[in-house]
Amino acid sequence: MTVPILSTQADVSLEIAAIADQHDAASPGAQPRLDYTPYRSAILRHPTKDLHHADPETIERWAPCFGPQDVDPLEADLTIQHSGEPIGERITVTGRVVDGDGRPVRRQLVEVWQANAGGRYIHQRDQHPAPIDPNFTGAGRILTGDDGSYTFQTIKPGPYPWKNHRNAWRPAHIHFSLFGTEFTQRMVTQMYFPGDPLFALDPIYQSITDAGARDRLVATYDHNLTVPEWSTGYRWDIVLSGSHRTLMDDEEPDA
Ligand SMILES: [Fe+2]
Repeated sequence: MTVPILSTQADVSLEIAAIADQHDAASPGAQPRLDYTPYRSAILRHPTKDLHHADPETIERWAPCFGPQDVDPLEADLTIQHSGEPIGERITVTGRVVDGDGRPVRRQLVEVWQANAGGRYIHQRDQHPAPIDPNFTGAGRILTGDDGSYTFQTIKPGPYPWKNHRNAWRPAHIHFSLFGTEFTQRMVTQMYFPGDPLFALDPIYQSITDAGARDRLVATYDHNLTVPEWSTGYRWDIVLSGSHRTLMDDEEPDA
């Protein structure tokens, strides 16, 4: 397969549209495509073989362990990790983690990480010229409650360029990891914000060709979560199994 090195957004958008047309004609399935050519950087790093089953007990001899006592409630506030206030729009993000029958998934370790308000990660590989915020690291974690709910405070992340093609920009998003009860159950996904103009242009978001499945990755603005003179709020539920489950990054390769 020959892939143009410096495709434009117009090239990529045409490919996205062509694949969407094929999908509409051929299959109504919600499975994201791993061999999704508009997602240039994943062409050589998506799984090409079936996954191996692993014995959880064998894995757990080597995998990290944690208990509820290891997660401090303050880790759910990404805006208080430094001496000053981070720049940007303060938001509350909340929702429930449930199984396919709507039952709460209790004591679930939820880890989140994200770019700052300017779209910059504190990471050596992110060198694009947006400012690093000295008061924002962009990582936190939460344990779900008895009702499966999680809540954290953060700064709304900005979109960022990612070199998938020329002038490629990711919609604003927050990465989520759900640890499960065993290391082999860990799942990773992304939450998006409603109305983002970059949705149509983003090969990662569009690699899920079923519109309903894509929509389930988008949070809902909830005015009841706002704090007057302080913050706005978004709600996002995560369904771990069943026909309305939230698609995960091993199905939808990540950037
Ligand atoms: Fe990201």
